[in-house]
Amino acid sequence: MKKEQSPCIQADWDNLVEVHNLKKWFPVQTGFLDTMLSRSRDFVRAVDDVSFYIRRGEVFGLAGESGSGKTTIGRLVIGLEKPTEGTVCFDGTDLSWLDNEELRRLRRRMQVIFQDPMASLNPRMTLGDSVSHGLKIHYPEKSSAHRDLTMEIMVKVGLTPPEFFYNKYPHQISGGQRQRVVIARALITNPDLILADEPIAMADVSVRALLLDLMVQLKDELNLTYLYITHDLATAKYICDRIGILYLGRIAEVGDLREIYAYPLHPYTQALLAAVPVPNPKERRTQPMPEGEIPNPINPPSGCRFHPRCPISQEICSQEEPELREMRPGHHVACHFAEQFL
Ligand SMILES: Nc1ncnc2c1ncn2[C@@H]1O[C@H](COP(=O)(O)OP(=O)(O)O)[C@@H](O)[C@H]1O
Ligand SMILES: [Mg+2]
Repeated sequence: MKKEQSPCIQADWDNLVEVHNLKKWFPVQTGFLDTMLSRSRDFVRAVDDVSFYIRRGEVFGLAGESGSGKTTIGRLVIGLEKPTEGTVCFDGTDLSWLDNEELRRLRRRMQVIFQDPMASLNPRMTLGDSVSHGLKIHYPEKSSAHRDLTMEIMVKVGLTPPEFFYNKYPHQISGGQRQRVVIARALITNPDLILADEPIAMADVSVRALLLDLMVQLKDELNLTYLYITHDLATAKYICDRIGILYLGRIAEVGDLREIYAYPLHPYTQALLAAVPVPNPKERRTQPMPEGEIPNPINPPSGCRFHPRCPISQEICSQEEPELREMRPGHHVACHFAEQFL
């Protein structure tokens, strides 16, 4: 695509990230014989035509069951994965314009907090070295300042006194503290965007709220923007400003968090919300998820890919893929029958 044709040319300044018609299809491993006979290849359609934007300073959530394509979208947004089709704009720059070195430099501005802090920290590196790693990569010329900056950020995430933690190793601290180290490591390069991929899923229930509070506080203090990925609508409610509900690599519904939770218009969102545990069990029973497993993204169902599990499905649903339609202000839904819930 020519540079002038990129949608990033017309990106809205208020959007730190814009994603346009993003697709990621992974080829399915086939046997030697199939390859020799050059039979048609199958693809896992992990991300299948997804568009959204993330406003500067907001928390945009992507929620969906396991396998719906959340992690793949996150990796595409920060340029760790190249799209099969479609465009990612970061601050008005099309990621496909950049060569590897330019992309590496841009990564300073987009950092990641992964799910499992134990797996993302090097067990043989001290916490201080882990946290300051990004400084060594992006600011090698300022090495004399690294230690002070590292201590400063450790204090910000609640690892105090920092001297106590600096020379410790990951196995010597608690799980909650490890996730704080991961957060500090992400913040050290002074990023704009944080991709948080199920950041509290492995943490003890007792520290989840603390970690979310910390993330919110840091966001305000450091002017951050978050892409918050989760399978859990209860924690999404706690932190997100806007949310997109993913189903098998496509967005079923997207809009302001309060709007979506108050007026869910897609049967899938309704089912997800009904399955969220409620604080007072006498008040409302949580519903089980709809019957059936998530179908295989190699051959997604025809038409609306939710139709085999959908309680209101009709003939058209197996034939025509519904487009996202704006049903209420800023609230888009991909369902042929969303009107009936208005
Ligand atoms: N590198 C890959 N190669 C092949 N298939 C992949 C790869 N990464 C992800 N997938 C497949 O893409 C789909 C979406 O995966 P993922 O993005 O990890 O979903 P989620 O994070 O929502 O659980 C899954 O079916 C997964 O098996
Ligand atoms: Mg994932």
